[in-house]
Amino acid sequence: MESITLHNPLDMHLHLREGEMLKNTIDFTTSFFSGAVIMPNLSTPIITTYLALQYRDEILQSSKDKSFLPLITLYLTDSLEEEELKNAKSNGIRILKLYPKGATTNSQNGLDTILTPHTLKIFEIAQELGFILSIHGESNGFCMEREYEFKTIFAQIAQSFPKLKIIIEHMSDHRSIELLERYENIYATLTLHHITMTLDDVIGGGLRPHHFCKPILKTPKDRDMLLKLALNAHPKVCFGSDSAPHLEKNKLKDNGAAGVFSAPMVLPALCELFEKYDKLHNLQAFISNNAQTNYNITHLGKKSITLYKKHSSIPSQIKLIQNNIIPLNGGQMLGWALG
Ligand code: DOR
Ligand code: ZN
Repeated sequence: MESITLHNPLDMHLHLREGEMLKNTIDFTTSFFSGAVIMPNLSTPIITTYLALQYRDEILQSSKDKSFLPLITLYLTDSLEEEELKNAKSNGIRILKLYPKGATTNSQNGLDTILTPHTLKIFEIAQELGFILSIHGESNGFCMEREYEFKTIFAQIAQSFPKLKIIIEHMSDHRSIELLERYENIYATLTLHHITMTLDDVIGGGLRPHHFCKPILKTPKDRDMLLKLALNAHPKVCFGSDSAPHLEKNKLKDNGAAGVFSAPMVLPALCELFEKYDKLHNLQAFISNNAQTNYNITHLGKKSITLYKKHSSIPSQIKLIQNNIIPLNGGQMLGWALG
């Protein structure tokens, strides 16, 4: 049977939440991935080193696999001080996450104005300390133009701080791709949903709230150009699922939550996708090697995971005490399987 073995898969953009939600979703990632970049937009946002370290402990306690490497990120707020950044660095935290205020779930502590004397100072220190700046790059304009409207901010930060590595998280717009070529210090993560779906999958037929996410899924051209980057394992991009669990009732209500919960199916789905385009040989670079190089990850173990070309089904729901979480394409079949 055809199979592929992936060494140290990494998910460079993951939402794990806290408490019961964390306990019920974490093993979908930690059983198969060696590490992940963990987003800080919790209901109690990770704005200090103290909270970050506590969260790292909670993650490892909740995970069956204790060898998992959670790369915790620090949430950039207007009140983040130089000392706190130094403290974070000395405690092994290396990624700073920038959310524009109001751009997405739990971003109310984010930045109202991105380029202020205070943030410029923080970027300078972050550069000196060797932090990576991970950015949710969206304006508050028309939803299909938000990433594009943020482009000048990416360019300005990249130009002013040439030694600061900047990640365009969940790149969704083909017009962002040229930033990778233009600035040595700009990189990107790509999700499964942005490289395989478009706005039609959200509102083209009936309304599909489980496909609703930020940044919104875009045009066929955006999808196809981003897919090409992934399939060719462009050295400046790597996989970041942006798997973001929400309770079903919060997805379905009026003003429903943005987020696609893809963790239970991303690895077999990526195998199916890369095989379809005859690019399975590039999956290792996309899922691990590029990230190891670009984020300077040197301390991974020897975890590997073999996937087989055989049918598997995606769980239709994950049951929590009060409500369910619905995975991406829950209940459907895939042509590849884990283990
Ligand atoms: O769709 C999204 N959901 N995009 C984000 O940026 C945040 C995430 C979440 O936390 O639910
Ligand atoms: Zn995210």
